[in-house]
Amino acid sequence: MSEHLEDIANRMVAEGRGILAADESSGTIKKRFDSINVESSADNRRDYREMLFRSPAMKDYVSGVILFDETLRQNADDGTPLAGLIADAGAVPGIKIDTGAKPLAGFDGETVTEGLDGLRERLAEYHDLGARFAKWRAVISIGEGRPTWNSVKANAHALARYAALCQEAGIVPIVEPEVQMDGPDAVHDIDRCLEVSQWALKTVFAEIYDAGIALDGMVLKPNMVVPGQKSGKSASVEEVAEKTISCLMATVPAAVPGIAFLSGGQGDEEATAHLSAMNAMFDPPWKLTFSYGRALQAAALKAWGGKAENVPAAQAAFAHRARMNGLAALGKWSPDLEREAA
Ligand code: 13P
Repeated sequence: MSEHLEDIANRMVAEGRGILAADESSGTIKKRFDSINVESSADNRRDYREMLFRSPAMKDYVSGVILFDETLRQNADDGTPLAGLIADAGAVPGIKIDTGAKPLAGFDGETVTEGLDGLRERLAEYHDLGARFAKWRAVISIGEGRPTWNSVKANAHALARYAALCQEAGIVPIVEPEVQMDGPDAVHDIDRCLEVSQWALKTVFAEIYDAGIALDGMVLKPNMVVPGQKSGKSASVEEVAEKTISCLMATVPAAVPGIAFLSGGQGDEEATAHLSAMNAMFDPPWKLTFSYGRALQAAALKAWGGKAENVPAAQAAFAHRARMNGLAALGKWSPDLEREAA
């Protein structure tokens, strides 16, 4: 019997756990491996991800793992499918299913995420391979005159069509409208991020309503409300937490079981501090947790360095970050815990 969507969604945002985004596309994982001088071969990608999925931290802090197509089809060194290692750790395997953000015709500097063609058939295959949730990332960029209504609307509409196809296939959609934090200029302060994030989320939930999506069978993956990295402005942890909460309260229906943030280029500890502050100051109607890529993996990637003898050190680095974020999902992280572990 297939599992109900709401049961899968609830498992993905289980108390004190969050999602590991390990779905770097071939181009992105190559960039990550370049940073540690490791060749991006299929075997190295497999070894790296096997190291993460076999980490004992998985069963305590990780509720789900987002995979790239290649990884969902790969076996561990001993022949166990990598998705099987994830399921054995009690986490839900998921798949990055969009085919990327492509230039939006007629709107310079903006993108629309593609991947709807043939999606019904791809979802059926991924379900057979063990995926029980999927991820589609829409990218909204802030700049002079951006975003335009056309890009907000086109991306929200595609997210809703994707979510409907996922639910039809028995797969929980992670709906990810990412307002990027690398806006090119001074127009991107925290209040502009708040305004654009609210606009994007309101539009996404209007489209989701029109498409008849079951809100209890989806997970939202938004950005936090932060100043742009190139704006020259900064914001305190409390301001980020308050503005992010106020944005979500104004836009996300309480029937959505969970919100799992992306890290989007924030520092490891910064992403943890922001999440913990939100959970500590507020008792939200949804679970608030993490779905981090870089902010969960950066330390482990560096400790691994492509060498088998470094696996225990890399797993320890991953365990530390996963534990800190697990505590943040409960609002119980503090900077002292970072120092204690060091
Ligand atoms: P980051 O946490 O590195 O932003 O990645 C999360 C993700 O899955 C983006 O789609």
